[in-house]
Amino acid sequence: MSEENKIEKIAIIGGTGKEGKGLAYRWVKAGYQVVIGSRNAEKAQIAVDELAEMLTDEERSHLSGQENGAAVRMAQLAVLTVPYQFHKDILTALKDDLAGKYLIDVTVPLVPPKVSTVQVPPEGSAALQAQLLLGEETAVISAFQNISFALLLTDNKIECDVLVCGKDKQAREVGQMMVRAAGLTAWDAGPLENSIVAEGFTSVLIRINKQAGTKSAGIQITGVPRD
Ligand SMILES: NC(=O)c1ccc[n+]([C@@H]2O[C@H](COP(=O)([O-])OP(=O)(O)OC[C@H]3O[C@@H](n4cnc5c(N)ncnc54)[C@H](OP(=O)(O)O)[C@@H]3O)[C@@H](O)[C@H]2O)c1
Repeated sequence: MSEENKIEKIAIIGGTGKEGKGLAYRWVKAGYQVVIGSRNAEKAQIAVDELAEMLTDEERSHLSGQENGAAVRMAQLAVLTVPYQFHKDILTALKDDLAGKYLIDVTVPLVPPKVSTVQVPPEGSAALQAQLLLGEETAVISAFQNISFALLLTDNKIECDVLVCGKDKQAREVGQMMVRAAGLTAWDAGPLENSIVAEGFTSVLIRINKQAGTKSAGIQITGVPRD
């Protein structure tokens, strides 16, 4: 990575969806420039217009929409927010555009209909699958799998920590910085092999939500000093 840890513009692949819009909202509020990506540039612009209703004029000027590839090319950091079933195909399509960038993968490898049962991808985790597919040129970071979009789209404090895994220490530092920018507590959770813990935990949280009649169960690390 040439410009160490310097992130100004973020591209959100599939940012027209629920989780992508939630993260875009948080990062625009934190002062970052965010490009909502979509397979369709017009759809990206519609998502921008929807989000703009929640933002001030100054914040709106930091938000734009583009086709996914163009969005990634404009940014130092990309974020993948598409359902697991499209994970491989979209990463393959964007591989060249993602070279030299950081990629935060928020994918939970859910395989419907058994979404409250952990199903481990053959590579060990979705984030590891992304790193193997993209190769050394892209630094994959895994984060946000346990954070519901509904919580991100508010200004409320979120009572859920974020486990950050990554290709190397620098990638994990960038990931933790982006988690804090979104208003959450981040923990360095180690290499991408460990990402299955956060990815798998979402199925457990889905199960707990069903039992409790809630929508946003979360996790917190205890027994260590918190920020
Ligand atoms: N929802 C949550 O609360 C939550 C929480 C934590 C993690 N996650 C993870 O975040 C990811 C996105 O979840 P979501 O709920 O935001 O999903 P979503 O709203 O159902 O879809 C997100 C976007 O995926 C794109 N997409 C759909 N079909 C596609 C295809 N064939 N190829 C490429 N892109 C396609 C669409 O963008 P375009 O049509 O504009 O291209 C869509 O807006 C998932 O991996 C999920 O596990 C979600």
